[in-house]
Amino acid sequence: MNEADRIFVAGHRGLVGSAVVRELERRGFRNLVLRTSAELDLRNQAAVAQFFEDTRPQYVLLAAAKVGGIYANSTYPADFIRDNLQIQTNVIESAWRAGASKLCFLGSSCIYPKLAPQPIREDSLLTGPLEPTNEWYAVAKIAGIKMCKAYRRQHGFNAIALMPTNLYGPGDNFDLQNSHVLPALIRRFHEAKLRGDAEVTVWGTGTPRREFLHVDDLAGAVVHLMRMYDREELVNVGCGSDVTIRELADLVSTVVGFKGRLVFDDSKPDGTPRKLLDVTRLTNLGWKPQIGLLEGVRATYEWFMANESASRC
Ligand SMILES: NC(=O)c1ccc[n+]([C@@H]2O[C@H](COP(=O)([O-])OP(=O)(O)OC[C@H]3O[C@@H](n4cnc5c(N)ncnc54)[C@H](OP(=O)(O)O)[C@@H]3O)[C@@H](O)[C@H]2O)c1
Repeated sequence: MNEADRIFVAGHRGLVGSAVVRELERRGFRNLVLRTSAELDLRNQAAVAQFFEDTRPQYVLLAAAKVGGIYANSTYPADFIRDNLQIQTNVIESAWRAGASKLCFLGSSCIYPKLAPQPIREDSLLTGPLEPTNEWYAVAKIAGIKMCKAYRRQHGFNAIALMPTNLYGPGDNFDLQNSHVLPALIRRFHEAKLRGDAEVTVWGTGTPRREFLHVDDLAGAVVHLMRMYDREELVNVGCGSDVTIRELADLVSTVVGFKGRLVFDDSKPDGTPRKLLDVTRLTNLGWKPQIGLLEGVRATYEWFMANESASRC
């Protein structure tokens, strides 16, 4: 991938896509092709085929997807499976037909079985039942991974598939109902601080362990692997360590400056006890993260405060 190559970043206004654009621009790539969903609905097969015919990008970074937390997944299962299958099928097929040199597909750690041994290795895929709350999304993502493999085998199309862990950072979704745990905690502690609340209640026991990667680190990994990785095996992208939800809540509350108490509501479900990706393959490919959790949460909180009215709150 050279600096003058034409690169289509699908989903460039999202958490991941915007970070990928920042990283590409920082490295001097200057021929980026970008479309909002209003300009190009990636669910529309004819429109996507025409777009690839017209623009013929050499590289495709697929960061467009219908994404959400447990509430959104369980309320809109049909939308999650349909939109994601349509977006990825249209983009992979059209990219290959239009002669793209390489495509990067992004899955998610929820593609792995609910009870996969920890840390989760790439070869755990399809070895057991999925977490039921987001299986619609996960099944679509698994189909995307298999499509990359199938197009590689049948057509020699250089499609790689990366599996990021939980991400956070500037541009995140801070909506309380549709967001992931880290941005939701930032917003709740921030609002509790402004109201002067005496306590904030966090769902569950606080004991489950989760891994968090700053999205700028993910973007660094994506560009690194686009440049040097050309194989069909999945690659997990994580930081290799996890924290308990209690540790995370303590850290967020400190960064936000909330002075009250944290209460854990253990009548609410905890979910999987631990979810940590094995990053041996990624490490062996010469990449490691740069941004620690404290530093990353601080920067994300600053971004949230500077963009509160514009962010998806
Ligand atoms: N967030 C995480 O923690 C996480 C973790 C692991 C993997 N991932 C993966 O990373 C990818 C991106 O996630 P994200 O968190 O960046 O999501 P996001 O912030 O919700 O952004 C998704 C982007 O997809 C675009 N999009 C959605 N539907 C579209 C459509 N029909 N046509 C065209 N564009 C459409 C949106 O474009 P507009 O803004 O123009 O509407 C939006 O910019 C996904 O594949 C996800 O599975 C995310």
